Amino acid sequence: MKVLVLTGAGISAESGISTFRGSDGLWEGHKPQEVATPEAFADNPALVHRFYNDRRRQIQQATVRPNAAHQALALLETALGEDFLLVTQNVDNLHQRAGNSRVIAMHGELLKVRCNETGEIFDWHEDLTEGTPHPNNPLIQKSLRPHIVWFGETPFYLPQIEDAARQADVFISVGTSGTVYPAAGILSQTQSHCRTIEINPFPTPLSPKFDETIRQKASIAVPIVTQQIQDQSIIRG
Ligand code: APR
Repeated sequence: MKVLVLTGAGISAESGISTFRGSDGLWEGHKPQEVATPEAFADNPALVHRFYNDRRRQIQQATVRPNAAHQALALLETALGEDFLLVTQNVDNLHQRAGNSRVIAMHGELLKVRCNETGEIFDWHEDLTEGTPHPNNPLIQKSLRPHIVWFGETPFYLPQIEDAARQADVFISVGTSGTVYPAAGILSQTQSHCRTIEINPFPTPLSPKFDETIRQKASIAVPIVTQQIQDQSIIRG
C-alpha cells in the first residue's frame, strides 16, 4: 500500500510556527506573500533577507519542536519504508527532526541557502545578508539567496511528486489551505482507486473533493489515521 502525505503550515502551527494565511499578522508592515517574491528580492534584498533571517531564527528556538503529528508520520515511514513518501510545503525542518527521511521539501528549506551563480546549495543556520561571502569562493559576490521557492518560481521535484501521486493508494493532506498550486493540484493527480483524506480543522476549497475530511487538529488526527494505516497494512501483509 503506497501512502503519499502532503503537509502544509497547519502541521507546524502546534509547534509554534505561524501559518501564512491563518495569521492576520503583518511582518514589518508587509504581507509575507509580498516579501516572498523574486521581485521583492531584486527591489529590496535587505528586507527579504531580514524576513528569512527572522524565520530561520524562529525555527531554531528551543521551544519549536516536532509535535505528535510529525512524530506519527515518522513512525509511518518506519513501518512502510519505500511505500511512504512525504511531500511538504513547509520550509521548516520539523519533519526531518521528527525522523522522516523520505521527505520532498517542494518549497525549499530555511536551513539552506543557494548560490545564484553556481547553483550550489549550502546548509545554513546563521543570518544571511547581501554581504555574506560565498563559503568557498570569495570572488563570487552577492550571490547567496535563501533556498526557498518564491511566488512565481517553480517548486522542486514536480515530476517525482506527480509520479508518487499517480501511484498512491492513500493520499493524506494535512494542514494546508489548498490555495497554492501546484501543491493544491496533487489531489487531482491521484487515481480513482486512491483513498483521499484531508485533515484540517477548517474547510478548504478542496474539501468537497476528498473521500474523507477530518475536522481536527493535526496532532490529534494524524496519529489516529497513521495508526489505522499501519494496522491495515499489517492485515493485508
Ligand atoms: N492542524 C491542521 N491544520 C491546521 C492547524 C492544525 N493544528 N492549524 C491550522 N491549520 C490549517 C488552516 O486551517 C489552514 O487551512 O492549516 C492551513 C494553513 O494554510 P496556509 O497558511 O495557507 O499554509 P499552506 O497551505 O501551507 O500554504 C501553502 O503558500 O505562502 C505559501 O509557500 C508558502 O508553503 C506555503 C504555501
